[in-house]
Amino acid sequence: MIKVENLVYRYGPGEAPVLDLISLGIGEGEFVGIIGPNGCGKSTLIRHFNALLRPDQGTVEVDGLDANDPADIAEIRLRVGMVFQNPDNQIVGMTVEEDVSFGPGNLNLAPAQIRKRVEEALEVVGLQDRASSSSRALSEGQKQLLAIAGVLAMEPKYIVLDEPTSSLDLTARRSILKVLHKLHRLGVAIIHVTHHVDEIVGADRIIVLDQGKVALDGKPDEVFCRVDWLKARGIAVPQVTELMWRMQQLGAGVRPDIITVDDACTELLAQIKRSRS
Ligand SMILES: Nc1ncnc2c1ncn2[C@@H]1O[C@H](COP(=O)(O)OP(=O)(O)O)[C@@H](O)[C@H]1O
Ligand SMILES: [Mg+2]
Repeated sequence: MIKVENLVYRYGPGEAPVLDLISLGIGEGEFVGIIGPNGCGKSTLIRHFNALLRPDQGTVEVDGLDANDPADIAEIRLRVGMVFQNPDNQIVGMTVEEDVSFGPGNLNLAPAQIRKRVEEALEVVGLQDRASSSSRALSEGQKQLLAIAGVLAMEPKYIVLDEPTSSLDLTARRSILKVLHKLHRLGVAIIHVTHHVDEIVGADRIIVLDQGKVALDGKPDEVFCRVDWLKARGIAVPQVTELMWRMQQLGAGVRPDIITVDDACTELLAQIKRSRS
């Protein structure tokens, strides 16, 4: 479990806290979406999950390891893998295979073990046929998949992604999402920071940050049905949720906590039947 208690963080002495007494827990195998307005502290928060940043006050623990204890940091970084917005900053190898073997190559593993990890990681992200391609020859989406494979080859328990899809087109975004759900099914915890809310409709849980605090924390339907609150802060909701919210404002007696097209259809059909009877 990643356990954050009373976390306070400032970028400079005397500056206002960017994270202001945050407490939360993320369980093993959970798929958690993190959203919030620009500058609310999402990146700052998740950089604490693998000790890229250390708390000014409070604690961050990963499976009982203390991010404030230098002796625990290497193990924390093995357990928590990070994927960032721009894959070019994460790709180090000339070829796909070389890139994915870079991390495990630093772990004192036998060559056969390294090969196995690389093959498995490439298989999960669907780049197994590109093993000997130049990393530079990949599309933007494939580069992000390669960055994910590089993290996977370290066999982390938690993967934290900071807006990994923000510069990708819809097709590439969908292939990243598919991989995240596959990893979730394999038992890896996924912590996905995004401003594309449709990507986290299927999450176990969504955390909304606002001005350095946890403002909402719940199941996707519980969070997204707070349409007025979210819109007031410039946070998007799924289009179907907005549709149902508008319908409700216009007087239709529909439920507001709807986040999928299928549920919206069921609700609207029920409404039509009710109005006919
Ligand atoms: N390296 C930095 N130095 C100083 N201030 C920073 C730094 N990084 C982020 N900030 C500030 O901290 C706040 C939170 O930033 P960030 O965590 O990047 O938010 P988000 O990821 O939600 O957009 C913002 O006001 C931002 O300007
Ligand atoms: Mg950010």
